[in-house]
Amino acid sequence: MFSENNFNVVGVEISDIAFEMAKEFDPKTKFFNGSVLEMTFTDEKYDAIYCFNTLHLFLRKERIKFLTKCYNQLRENGFVFFTMFSEKEASFGTGKEIENNTFESKPGRPTHYFSKSDLIQHFKDYLIIKKGIMEDQETHGEVGPHIHKLSYIFAQKRV
Ligand SMILES: C[S@@+](CC[C@H](N)C(=O)[O-])C[C@H]1O[C@@H](n2cnc3c(N)ncnc32)[C@H](O)[C@@H]1O
Repeated sequence: MFSENNFNVVGVEISDIAFEMAKEFDPKTKFFNGSVLEMTFTDEKYDAIYCFNTLHLFLRKERIKFLTKCYNQLRENGFVFFTMFSEKEASFGTGKEIENNTFESKPGRPTHYFSKSDLIQHFKDYLIIKKGIMEDQETHGEVGPHIHKLSYIFAQKRV
């Protein structure tokens, strides 16, 4: 959507297969095959960072590391739009709780479910423009068609 609308876009993807698919699907975007926890490939400052359903995959220490990196790579007054699993998700509470509101769906695979206060705390260095819960329909794997109740936030870097 962003590259089609003539923004210069850089993408990060850790999975080799997803990285190859993304390059093929969107040749205008420059993709990096690596982790958002490192982002050593660039020291550029960006106007905005869009992150759909990835932040909730990390434990607290890593979530803060990722968000700190995002903050440092945003230009002054830059924007973020993030979505992540909320406490309203059907799967909330499934599996072993390994941190507050973080459950292992499989061993070594954490999912954090964001509450309202949690969201505000994670994005405390930003001015919140809009936040809430949005529904997102998906069909994949053994689960089949289902609706996610995602927490979203649109915010601006405070300077
Ligand atoms: C649940 S999917 C989210 C859907 C995807 N963002 C989209 O827009 O359709 C999570 C994605 O994040 C990628 N991912 C997981 N950990 C990552 C990391 N540390 N760095 C970069 N990408 C990661 C996964 O490979 C997967 O493609």
